[in-house]
Amino acid sequence: MTNPNRVRKAVFPVAGLGTRFLPATKASPKEMLPVVDKPLIQYAVEEAYEAGIRDMIFVTGRSKRAIEDHFDTAYELENELERAGKQAMLDLVRAVVPADMNCLFVRQPRSLGLGHAVLCAEPLVGNEPFAVILADDLMTGLPGGPGVMAQMTAAFLKQGRSLLAVQEVPLEHTKRYGIVKGEPAGGPLLRVDEIVEKPAPEVAPSRMGVAGRYVLTPRIFDEIRSQPKGVGGEIQLTDAIERLMQHETVYAYQYSGKRYDCGSKEGFLQATVELALQHPEVGASFRAYLQTLDI
Ligand code: G1P
Repeated sequence: MTNPNRVRKAVFPVAGLGTRFLPATKASPKEMLPVVDKPLIQYAVEEAYEAGIRDMIFVTGRSKRAIEDHFDTAYELENELERAGKQAMLDLVRAVVPADMNCLFVRQPRSLGLGHAVLCAEPLVGNEPFAVILADDLMTGLPGGPGVMAQMTAAFLKQGRSLLAVQEVPLEHTKRYGIVKGEPAGGPLLRVDEIVEKPAPEVAPSRMGVAGRYVLTPRIFDEIRSQPKGVGGEIQLTDAIERLMQHETVYAYQYSGKRYDCGSKEGFLQATVELALQHPEVGASFRAYLQTLDI
């Protein structure tokens, strides 16, 4: 029998408008912006795959067709590459969707918030634990170590309670995050006593900010369904987590690795520079180029 704490499904809420990246996102999904040579959404899906997840559930919206196409077979392109004998490129294209990966798509008809987006995935998730991955947070594990979602699914396998990835954020940035307060619960875990969505620094209960990685138990769906609208008139995932805490222990997970906020221009540029420096093909020459800059 498979372990009921094995996380097999990941939800990618990708219906957002990406207004922080206009005009680039006027006609293209923000999740398709490339960092070096891969779109943001592909980094997110690869992180889930590395964590053993095989069912990828995309909650999409209008003007997000490119995401569906990216995770589909590209017949014309593949035929052309095959005919031209460009095997390495063909392998790159085919590796986007390994044979054992399933991609599922559901629409979020209106932008009603992250909680609502997650609820749209319920018919595809069913009654089992699942991951939520926000692709505009590009996360990397420590060099040579497991990715952030792999760290979290391993922790979930042991204790079966919902997990929120957290990191310390500067006090003046608490307004950008869900902020948690918790008690140390062994290793990287904190038992969450309080969670608030985007508090001002004066009222933030701590500086522990939630990054865009969650492993949630299916009870979260009941909580989202029955909750009133929160900050910004949206159905917030944070509020549902607060309600979940009345029934189940929720842990914050202090991950090992790095987060790039690719929803912001600065974070996107940092990711581009750092990942380019590590890239096997362009890393060395890019480093040499940066060293010639007079900055
Ligand atoms: C969302 C969540 C927030 C979390 C953040 C992480 O906010 O609502 O709790 O800290 O993602 O990136 P958003 O960035 O979508 O406004």
